[in-house]
Amino acid sequence: MTVITAETVARADGVLIIAKGDVVTPLARDLANERGIRIEIGSASDIPPVPRPAFTPAPMAGRTTPVAPQSQSARSPMALSFAARVEAPRQLGAVSGALYRRGAPVPAHMWPDPGASQRNSSRGGVGSDPRPKVAVVGAGHVGATTALRLVETSLFSKCTMIDIVPGLAEGLALDMWHSAGLRGFTTRVEGSDSLDALRGADYIVMTAGRPRKPGMSRTDLTGVNAEIVGAVADKIRIVAPDAVVVVVTNPLEEMTELMARRSGLPDSRVLGMAGVLDTARFCSLVALTGIAAPGAVKALALGSHGPEMVIPLSLATANGQPIEGQLPPPELKAIVERARDSGAEVVSLLKTGSAYFSPAESAASMVRAMASGDDTVIAACVKSGGAFGTLNTRLGLPVRLGRQGVREIVNLPMRPDEVSALIRSSESIAGRIAELP
Ligand code: LMR
Repeated sequence: MTVITAETVARADGVLIIAKGDVVTPLARDLANERGIRIEIGSASDIPPVPRPAFTPAPMAGRTTPVAPQSQSARSPMALSFAARVEAPRQLGAVSGALYRRGAPVPAHMWPDPGASQRNSSRGGVGSDPRPKVAVVGAGHVGATTALRLVETSLFSKCTMIDIVPGLAEGLALDMWHSAGLRGFTTRVEGSDSLDALRGADYIVMTAGRPRKPGMSRTDLTGVNAEIVGAVADKIRIVAPDAVVVVVTNPLEEMTELMARRSGLPDSRVLGMAGVLDTARFCSLVALTGIAAPGAVKALALGSHGPEMVIPLSLATANGQPIEGQLPPPELKAIVERARDSGAEVVSLLKTGSAYFSPAESAASMVRAMASGDDTVIAACVKSGGAFGTLNTRLGLPVRLGRQGVREIVNLPMRPDEVSALIRSSESIAGRIAELP
């Protein structure tokens, strides 16, 4: 009797013939089902000769006798099982020996045969899963936290994290996937160090780029991050021309413009994340006054993700009532300023790196809104089209999202001074964008 493990199944193709009495582990059965491999009991004559690469066993501690490869003629169902046990595993990428030995089902991105993933697609794997696919570029704190917030919703068939640092995205993806056993999510998590892994993504969150250091402005990052965003956009143009992209990389408006230009995606499918973040900061800071819980404060942070941020207080409410009647104007003004400068406040406290919990949740919430068809009005950086009398540039505006990106810019009734502030904001941003290389 031989125990047929997932390891054996991983090397089979089409049909796996086993001997009567062999025991197939549940994991092996799962993997066989997943890959569409039939497990059949047969006799020695049923077993086709399997071409096998020359095997040189790796030296093992305290063992000097090499295991001789089996000859083809010696194959029997039992012999096949044995051969599978001693055969050198084919390239498994980042999978750890421990995981492999335990016979756990190997995630698609670690399958030894690059064609296997494709075949799995046609056999009811991720490829035939109707849920959208999301990719996160950059596996730093913002990227990894965004991915976590996305996968835990199970709204997506697959979440691919990509980072240029070899092994980083793969390692985090594997670690994240391990938590599926605890959290119960069903979104497959993969990692890659190649932008080719963007292929087929419905949504892409662009987080890669340098963070600022204390004392720097976001605009100081333009040069270095433009190179990164440009390269990713060039790749998106080729491998993911149907995706919706949410840009997180700073400086936000400039990088959103660059992403749109270089990717060739329509303006409705390139959004910048910052309005959601600045809004959340405002709401959370208002809650610190004690007038309402954070979730009961409603507002929209428009304009730029920077000095020209505009929060139209005429639209803001706490517990459903106008906020202006609930807090004195100087206190409200101070809260707006603190919200606007919160990014720098966090940077100066951290010393290295910038905020990530709230930026990640903000980006994830935008993607979730699109994927789930939630049409709540949110603030996002979009091409204004001259709305509210602004210059036609990338600007934080109230929008309704749909599965394909921006559905519409929502015409909210603002006071003249608020509209003027928005127009001034668009002028400053247009000036900065004009300086982009
Ligand atoms: C933020 O607002 O936290 C980010 O834009 C990062 C930064 O540098 O402020």
